[in-house]
Amino acid sequence: MDKLRMVGGNPLNGEVVIAGAKNAALPILCACLLTDQPIILRNVPDLQDVRTMLKLLQEIGVTVHFPDAGDRSHLVLNASVIKSSEATYEMVKTMRASILVLGPLLARMHSAKVSLPGGCAIGARPVDQHIKGLKGMGATIKIKSGYIQAEIKPPLERLKGASILTDMITVTGTENLLMAATLATGTTVLENAAREPEVGDLAELLVKMGAKISGIGSDKLIIEGVEKLHGAEHAVIPDRIEAGTFLCAVAAAGGEVLVKNCRPDTLDAVLVKLKDAGLKMEVGPSWIKASMQGRPKAVSFRTSEYPAFPTDMQAQLMAVNAIASGSSTITETIFENRFMHVQELNRLGADIAIEGNTAIVQGEEKLSGAIVMATDLRASASLVIAGLAAHGETQVDRIYHLDRGYDRMEQKLTLLGANIQRIK
Ligand code: EPZ
Repeated sequence: MDKLRMVGGNPLNGEVVIAGAKNAALPILCACLLTDQPIILRNVPDLQDVRTMLKLLQEIGVTVHFPDAGDRSHLVLNASVIKSSEATYEMVKTMRASILVLGPLLARMHSAKVSLPGGCAIGARPVDQHIKGLKGMGATIKIKSGYIQAEIKPPLERLKGASILTDMITVTGTENLLMAATLATGTTVLENAAREPEVGDLAELLVKMGAKISGIGSDKLIIEGVEKLHGAEHAVIPDRIEAGTFLCAVAAAGGEVLVKNCRPDTLDAVLVKLKDAGLKMEVGPSWIKASMQGRPKAVSFRTSEYPAFPTDMQAQLMAVNAIASGSSTITETIFENRFMHVQELNRLGADIAIEGNTAIVQGEEKLSGAIVMATDLRASASLVIAGLAAHGETQVDRIYHLDRGYDRMEQKLTLLGANIQRIK
C-alpha cells in the first residue's frame, strides 16, 4: 500500500490548477445511461473513483473513448447498447456512488439490480430515500440477498411522475431521482432537494440532453418527463472541495498560492471561515489568490447542507484549527462518524476531544511528525495538511483513500514547494 512521507515547515508558493469535481463527475457519468447517443465530457478528474465508475459502466455495456491520447479529462461515453442492468456487490462495495446507476438504468431499461452499498467508515449511509422515491414513481422494488431489485411492472410501461419529499436532504438521492424523473411520464416534483453545486451541474447536463427541469439550484426541482434524451457535450464544474483543501493547506503551512480553474462562488461558507482564520484572499471569477503569514486563528463551525459549511471540508479545516491560536468547536451534523481523523491528528500532537457530534480543538503552537493512518478520503487530506505544518517527518499510511478523490495531490504540493514524496 502506498504511503506519503513529508517533512513539514515549508511554506507553499506558486500556482495550482483545480480539477473537475469528483461529486459532479460521478453522477454525470451515470447520466449517459439515459440515452443511446454519445455524451462528450471535458474537465473530468482523473481519480480512482472515476476509474471505478467507468469500469462499472463498461460492464453494463457503455463504451468509453478518450479522443485525445493521454488526456483522460476528455471522454466520450456511448450507452447505445446496454448488456447488463446489474451493479454487482464487488463493484458497489468499493464505491458507494455506484448506487447512481439505479435511477438511470430503471428509467432507460425498466429494470435494475444494484447491490445495496454496505456501511462505510463515516457512517451507515443508507439509501432508503432513493428506494422510497423510486417506489413513489411506480417502481416495484425488492431487497433480496443484498441486492436492490427494481423493475417497472405492467400495467406501467415506464416510471410515472410523482411528488416526492425526502425525509432529509440527500445529494445522491436527489441525483438518482432527478435522473429517473427525466424519462418518466408526467411531472415529478422533488421537494427538500439537495442544492449542492454538483447537483446543479448534473441538472445542466440533463437539460442539454433534452430534459425539462426547472428550479435548478433550489430545494424544489420540477421535472417534466420526456420520451427520449439525446446526446450532449458538457464540461464538469471545478471541484470546490479540492480548491478548499488547497486553501486549508496554505492556511496551515503559510505562503502564497494562486488557486486556478475554481469556482469561488461555490465556496462562500468556506471562504468566510478561512478569512476569519486569517487567510488573506483576493477572489476572481475563476481563481483565488490566497496568502498566509503567521499562525491561523481558531474558527468554530458546524457542517450542514449547501450553501452552509460542507461536511467534506470539516476534516481539512480541523487540521488548521489544530495549530491555530485559541480553541474552537466543530460540530458535524451530516454523518454520525466523521471524526476518525481526530485520533490521528492527536498522534501528531493535536489536542482534540470529542463530545457527541462536536469536537473541541485546543490549538497547539506546533505539531510534531509521526506515522498516521488515513481512514477515509477527507481524513487523509486532513492528515496531509497537518503533516505539512508539523515539525519533522510525518508518514500517512493507506493513502489509497486519498487517491479516490484527489488527482496526484503530492505532485501538486511538490510543485508548491512542499517536501512530500509517495512511497510505493
Ligand atoms: C454525497 O454523499 C457525497 N458523495 C459525499 O462526499 C458528501 O459527503 C455527502 O453527499 C454530503 O454532502 C457523492 O456525491 C458521490 P447524502 P451521499 O445522501 O449522497 C443520510 C466525499 O468525501 N441518508 O447527502 O451519500 C446519510 O446517511 C463524499 O466526496 C439517509 O439516511 O450523502 C447522511 O447522514 C463523502 N438515507 C445524510 O443523509 C438516504 O437514503 C446525507 O447523505 C440517503 C442519505
